[in-house]
Amino acid sequence: MDKIIVNGGNPLYGEVEIGGAKNAVLPIMTASILTPGIYTLNRVPNLRDTRTMANLLEIIGAKVTYEKGTMVIDSNSCNNPTAPYDLVKTMRASFYVLGPFMGRFQHAEVSLPGGCAWGPRPVDLHLKAIEALGGTVSLESGNIVADGQLKGADISFDISSVGATGNALMASAKADGISTISIASKEPEITSLAEFLIKMGADITGLDSDKLTVVGNPNLKGDFEFDIIPDRIEAGTFLIAVALCGGEVTLTNVNPNHLNIVLSKLSEVGVKLDIGEDTITVKAPKKINSVNITTAPYPGFPTDLQAQWMAMMSKCDGSAVIIDEIYRDRFTHIAELSRLGANITLEDNVAVVTGVNKLKGAPVMSTDIRASASLILSSLAAEEKSEISRVYHIDRGYENIEEKFRNLGADMYRISK
Ligand code: EPZ
Repeated sequence: MDKIIVNGGNPLYGEVEIGGAKNAVLPIMTASILTPGIYTLNRVPNLRDTRTMANLLEIIGAKVTYEKGTMVIDSNSCNNPTAPYDLVKTMRASFYVLGPFMGRFQHAEVSLPGGCAWGPRPVDLHLKAIEALGGTVSLESGNIVADGQLKGADISFDISSVGATGNALMASAKADGISTISIASKEPEITSLAEFLIKMGADITGLDSDKLTVVGNPNLKGDFEFDIIPDRIEAGTFLIAVALCGGEVTLTNVNPNHLNIVLSKLSEVGVKLDIGEDTITVKAPKKINSVNITTAPYPGFPTDLQAQWMAMMSKCDGSAVIIDEIYRDRFTHIAELSRLGANITLEDNVAVVTGVNKLKGAPVMSTDIRASASLILSSLAAEEKSEISRVYHIDRGYENIEEKFRNLGADMYRISK
């Protein structure tokens, strides 16, 4: 198992190129199943999760090649609408095959995803969408088995769900008739998935709103190229890193419009921002003002930056309140941040972070993708040496993170056990 070693205390200077968005490319990869074709995806990050999804596509019968950021998926020979437990349990996004399986095969056998480090991750809304479209759904030995020729219908979610919206879009794209999806997720990654489906010939309107309308089209076409949008969470992670560690860094290949609330909150922290069309230059503040956050569906503050924000607030001037309304248990990083000297109390889904003058390096353990990111940020700001174990979590969502930070002046390297 690899470990990342950090000798903290260096400010960050230079330029970093942000990769393609993990949470955009994963549903787009499964959407390629919907109709036979050859799909060329540009700016695909080389992540543990994209490799896992490529494996799953190959189990389904697709051919996948990946070289220098370009992935080519040939879905003509897909013939096996199943997603096995041993794969789904390692990556919940595997559940995104459900909609495409129904659209192409009118049948699906998809393992129920397990929980994750911070608790249960239900899929009831995904199943509600399939049933609303006329599919039959049953649970057999831990697998969701679904059948039926889907027909257009009105789907109304109780809460905004990124994954359920994605599956509903893919399932309704080829259904007979018109579908509406209310309380739809407005995340940029879902808008990008809709744009991919539209390029296939899907008729989808209402993009960027919480009500989508889909006119089913049985004759979707493949054989085209598509650029993956920049990863707003990776960008947010680097912006917060500079605010916490000091220095001045320019991020390239970013879409500032996907980061409005994060940039506004960072300005309250005291950073200086110079925002270009696809670049952001961030200059660290002299002191970190305490700024509260409450996570919410897009365009609210992203839960995927909650742990990183907590790391930054651990050195704030005062104390900050951090509330996670999306995942009320997403706080496994608190115990590890405390090992680095952070002063954090938690009651239900409300954390109070009281700033300390210094963090001190220690051995710490990753528990999930974004918790790992918060440990890396804190160890970069801590004095002395930190050792971060179970870094396979960070590799799921960040490509070459130690190289990117080293190029900015961090003393950070990986040891392979
Ligand atoms: C996506 O997960 C992201 N993953 C997550 O990012 C992200 O944290 C999450 O959206 C919220 O923004 C991918 O896109 C691959 P949800 P998803 O359905 O789709 C509840 C990362 O670090 N819910 O929007 O699984 C759920 O429990 C990952 O990159 C139901 O109750 O999230 C949660 O409280 C971690 N029933 C809320 O909705 C359902 O059927 C939002 O979850 C589905 C969800």
